[in-house]
Amino acid sequence: MTAAAEDSASLGTTGGQDDSAGAAVSGGTAAAVDLAGRGGPDAVSTSASAAEAVSDSRDLLGIKAYVPVLLDVIRTTDRLAFDIYVKQGERGFVPFRFRNTPLQDRDRQQLLVQGVHQVYVDVRHHPNYCQYVEGQLDAIISDASIDIQERARLLYQVSDRLVEEIAAGLTVEHLKRARQLVRVLASHTLHSRTLPEAMARVVAREQHVGAHALHVCSGMLRIGLSMKLAVSELADLALAGILHDAGKSMDVLTCWELPKSTADPRHHAYREHPTLGAQALQMVCAKSSGLIAVAGQHHEALDRSGFPTGLPGESIHLWARICAVVDAYDCLTQAGPNRKPLEPGEALGRIEADSGSKLDPEIVGHLKRLYAAPATRGATGGAAGEVLLDIGQSGPGGAERRQSPRYPFHVAVIVRRGLDRQGRPVGRSSIVVQALDVSRTGIHFISRQPFGVGEVILVDLPTQIGGKGPAQQVRAKIVRCLRWNVAAGYDIGATFIGK
Ligand SMILES: [Fe+2]
Ligand SMILES: [Fe+2]
Repeated sequence: MTAAAEDSASLGTTGGQDDSAGAAVSGGTAAAVDLAGRGGPDAVSTSASAAEAVSDSRDLLGIKAYVPVLLDVIRTTDRLAFDIYVKQGERGFVPFRFRNTPLQDRDRQQLLVQGVHQVYVDVRHHPNYCQYVEGQLDAIISDASIDIQERARLLYQVSDRLVEEIAAGLTVEHLKRARQLVRVLASHTLHSRTLPEAMARVVAREQHVGAHALHVCSGMLRIGLSMKLAVSELADLALAGILHDAGKSMDVLTCWELPKSTADPRHHAYREHPTLGAQALQMVCAKSSGLIAVAGQHHEALDRSGFPTGLPGESIHLWARICAVVDAYDCLTQAGPNRKPLEPGEALGRIEADSGSKLDPEIVGHLKRLYAAPATRGATGGAAGEVLLDIGQSGPGGAERRQSPRYPFHVAVIVRRGLDRQGRPVGRSSIVVQALDVSRTGIHFISRQPFGVGEVILVDLPTQIGGKGPAQQVRAKIVRCLRWNVAAGYDIGATFIGK
């Protein structure tokens, strides 16, 4: 389900309820939705002309609805295709910046110094926001200042949107977008466990139809690498993973296996999806036989018990055999309508039981080797540190440092919350922050000390780290300079308020 779909599913018209109550809805002529329930301050200033735009966002029923978005996701130099609102106590949702206007750094500062980390988008502009996120996905996923789980969630949302659009009809444009998604996924997941672990935590709690496509893509890529397939093949192999269920209609997107009863209306659609997917891909990419084979043959089995045609083992394309193994693993570990997800070890056991009969034993061997490591699916805690970088305004010598040209960036680090992998609060000694100068001659240690939840640490960054240049560049540089080295592998994001 896309974010937009989730949001609209939460809409209602229960007039008079408090809009600060999570996903509650307030009704009336200016009704609004606050899905996250994190209100902004009363003191945020908005332009007088912006207030006139309120009437623009009313629909025919006179109901307005807003979707919360993280301020950090909206990058400062972009012209936006959506209006930005802030929430101001009893005044409700107030226009802050109009579409086609970039959100300036000073705008962000204005919001951040008042504790606003979340702004709102009119639900009718939400598709524009989703399109914006997809266009910026690589930069957003790379941005350490955004909480890692939020980044994982955005990745899934982009995939959800793409998968749902493909279910309505595959186009060449979808192929291009899928290639871009593969590129982002590969560059951030192949050599790091941080994002995959965050993705596992997100999907353990939320339903994302696009998650399956991403998981199969990533699994096929990993197995392709493990099998030492030609590098030139890997990009298309991964793309095949994203598109393997391109023949699924919306009705069967969350159907992880063939419905047993032939009376189930989804039974026929499920059996047909490989054929429909291969046909759809043939229309848009006739050259790539691998993509078409994966879509058409990923439910075939070595012993001819698969569908749609009952191809024997050797006749099934290698990529489709890889897909069959990864697809089976991901389906077993996904929650179904009437089934709990299996733990990874149990799922691997089931896969092994079909090895040699239905599934290619060599590929199953690679899967076992790659997936036997402890998995985090189902974990409730983990990457929960949230760090705020702020201009130093307190502490010994803070005022002097702020005036000094040598220290143009004074940074305070605040841990807002810290949970271990079981979701338990962590103690002071568990979290260590390192600020490292990587700007010139290698890595220089600036500051390293343990700190606890709610504590503030000042880190003064000298000129050569902060540097001069556009605020966006300086900000990116500073974020790069700060390495959050947290015991036990916690991830900490960072929000920066620069000078
Ligand atoms: Fe399938
Ligand atoms: Fe699938």
